[in-house]
Amino acid sequence: MNNVYLIGFMGSGKSSVAAWLMRQYGIPRVEMDREIEAEYGMTIPEIFEKEGEGAFRQKETLLLRKIAEREEVVVSCGGGVPTRTENVEVMRASGKIILLTAAPESILARVKRAENRPVLKGKKTLEGIRELMEQRRECYEAAADYIVPTDGRSVAEVAEEVRSLMQK
Ligand code: S3P
Repeated sequence: MNNVYLIGFMGSGKSSVAAWLMRQYGIPRVEMDREIEAEYGMTIPEIFEKEGEGAFRQKETLLLRKIAEREEVVVSCGGGVPTRTENVEVMRASGKIILLTAAPESILARVKRAENRPVLKGKKTLEGIRELMEQRRECYEAAADYIVPTDGRSVAEVAEEVRSLMQK
């Protein structure tokens, strides 16, 4: 209850904002991908490879249900979390949903070197990112209570805006 769920595309800054809020204000955070990796003893790419995307999405939903029982945590959600209606319902019933947005160009610059995102495999181009973003836009926007743009802003600025929304 009273949680804050940061949603948005890979590289939109969810993890950085949650980490900043924890460092600056001691607000407990949950990093969904890291929790899944710790619980199952595999990296995200290994789960995709060995068990497939469907199994990963199921693990995500199970974790989200557990997180929803906690109080006052900031949750850095995996980018695919809002694509399942049941996940959106769980988040909505237990807190606020804040969407972080960024232009495809910024996303590409932020994810360019990372190799830990299987859904971007072979799609790390402006076109690839645009396409996936377009597919996700509707469910991201429909899920969001608030939308916070990140382009041209520092992590601190974005995090302060998130913090003021948390207090609403
Ligand atoms: C995914 C986003 C990733 C991770 C997985 C799938 C997605 O999380 O959950 O690779 O489908 O958008 P981040 O958004 O934290 O990178």
